[in-house]
Parts: sequence; structure tokens; C-alpha cells
Amino acid sequence: MVKNITVIAGDGIGPEIVAEARKVLDAVAAKYGHEFVYTDVLMGGASIDKYGVPLTDETIEKAKSADAVLMGSIGGDANTSPWYKLPPEKRPEAGLLGIRKALNLFANLRPAMLYPELYKACPLKEEVAEAGFDMLIMRELTGGLYFGARSTEEKNGEMVATDTLVYSESEIRRIAIKAFEVAMKRRKSVISVDKANVLDSSRLWRKIVNEVAADYPEVTVSHMLVDNAAMQLVKDPAQFDVVLTENMFGDILSDEASMITGSIGMLPSASLNDTKFGLYEPSGGSAPDIAGKGIANPIATILSAAMMLRFSFDMDAEADAIEGAVKKVLSEGYRTGDILGADATGLTKVGTAAMGDLIAERI
Ligand code: IPM
Ligand code: MG
Repeated sequence: MVKNITVIAGDGIGPEIVAEARKVLDAVAAKYGHEFVYTDVLMGGASIDKYGVPLTDETIEKAKSADAVLMGSIGGDANTSPWYKLPPEKRPEAGLLGIRKALNLFANLRPAMLYPELYKACPLKEEVAEAGFDMLIMRELTGGLYFGARSTEEKNGEMVATDTLVYSESEIRRIAIKAFEVAMKRRKSVISVDKANVLDSSRLWRKIVNEVAADYPEVTVSHMLVDNAAMQLVKDPAQFDVVLTENMFGDILSDEASMITGSIGMLPSASLNDTKFGLYEPSGGSAPDIAGKGIANPIATILSAAMMLRFSFDMDAEADAIEGAVKKVLSEGYRTGDILGADATGLTKVGTAAMGDLIAERI
């Protein structure tokens, strides 16, 4: 099959980790007789440097016309980068939010699992780590606080800042359906996370989730308040299968979930709309502190490429091959430095490109 992939390498470690994902995709293409055609476009800081804006119409068009988008990461160091002297709507993150909205990527899937090979890298108590976990965070991505009206203005002699959290029934229903659909292919459990003891938007969220749940009698549904969910994630992560939640809660909980896998450099993500199209990116950030050093972990990006093969291209065997190659490399003891305990005896610490090579060779 021929598939067109628009590539946003982005900022920071983005170009390094995307290069390794391409290496692995090329190994897949060679083995399975596919052709992946890449088109590079700019977004975020790289786009600001060239065009003065973090997202151009051209980038949106090139993304839309592809079969899928593969992304690295965008953004820089907010304390030192000149990008953060610009007004908020011109900063790198505005590009990411803009493309999510422009492509209607309302469903953000963030799987977080503890590889048995990495249980020693899990910072939780040994008995919790040994039990393992395998969850999928289904984060709503185009609504809520991220996209509600905001302002900063002077009122009665002081500055007042406002952000608004808005959700409509239809926005909640479509993400809930995604969560229940994916739960049917997993362990058939959805835990919906909200703050229904305080927020109206959460009360509506709960009501609509229960309505959708009625269409999936095989799936167990329960509701958890977000503060409790943050606690349960480190107390007993094995209880979670599909975690359904709104945009901001999902942002926060997915970073927490990533840390208990041993490293944020391990977590892939898929952002989907109602078609086969998707944008695939690691859940971690641009890590400007280690950019250009060749030490970033490319596994999250490589696993994001696997998600692309599975969800957008229906290439399940090929996706399995990538995931299997990652597991193999980990079981052989190779680690990038971000993975907790990478310096232990018996393990081999490798850089970004070597990790990409090792995985590509095992396809
Ligand atoms: C993420 C990131 C983004 C978000 C930032 C960079 C805007 O943290 O993808 O989780 O908050 O969605
Ligand atoms: Mg985040």
C-alpha cells in the first residue's frame, strides 16, 4: 500500500525522535511491501522562525490531504526562548491547539502500560509495580478550558483573568462513544473522570456518559472524581482500563500515568476525528534541555507510528511488529537515559539513533 504521511518534526527533540520513527517505518515498508511517502511541514516554534506564526494554512492543508500526520513535539523553554515573548496566540502551543481544532481531532488516545521488562523503572511500590497496569486514557481534545473564551482585563483597579470551561452534549457524547467502542476491544471497563461535585460541565458530562453507557451493556461504567483519580493512579493503577475524561483533566492525568510507566519518553498518543485520519505524537514534550544531544528516547514516537499503522492504515500485523520489536529491545536490556534505573548493571544505555536502529533491525 502507498500511504501519504505529513510529518511535523517540530521543535526541541522533535526532529531527532521523528527521524527514528521514520527509520522504523521504512523498515516496516521494506518488510511488508508498502511505500510511505513523507511530506515535511513546519509547526510551532520552527514555523514562527520561518513565517512568524506557529501554524500556517499550508500546514493545515498538507495535513488534511495526507492519510495521517506524524508529529514530534513543539515548544521551547518558556523562560529563555524568544517565542514566549510573543502574545499567547502566536506561541508554539497555539499551533498545536490550532491544528487539533482545524482537523477536528477530538479524541486523544493515550495508552499507558507498564512493560514487564520495565517494572523496576516504575517509581511505585514493588507490589504495585509487579501487579502491572495497562490503561488507555481517552482525553477529549477540542473542548473545555483549552478552547473556551478567555480574557485578561483590568476591573476595579486590578487585573482579572478569565478562562471558561464549556462542554456541549454532542461534544461529550462523541468522545464517550469513542471510549465505549475502544473498551469493547479491551477489558470492557470505562472509568469516567470528572469533578461533578463542583462543576456544571462535569454534571452534564456524567449524565451523557451514563446515557451512552446504556448502549453498551457489556461495558462496566463507573465515575471517579478527578482528585481521587489522581490518587488512585499511584495507589492502584491496575484498576484502570479505559479512563474517559475532559481535556484539562486528561492532560494532567496522562502525565501522571506516563511517569508510573518509568518514563514519559515511552508514551505514544493518537488524536483522531470521526474518520480514519489521525495525528500521532508522543505524549511527552519537546524537552529543550536535552535537544540536539542525541539522548532523547524515541520509543514514544516509534509507538505512535505503530498506532498510526493500526488506526489510520488498518495495518495490524505491521503495528504488532513495531510493538514486538520495542518489547524485544527492552527485554534485551537496552535503555535510553530517561528510563529510571537505566544505569543499573546488566543494562545497556544507548542514545536516540542507536535505539532507533535496534528497533528497526528487529522488525
Ligand atoms: C499535551 C501538551 C499540550 C496540551 C500543550 C503543549 C499545549 O501538554 O499534548 O499534553 O496541554 O495539550
Ligand atoms: Mg500535556
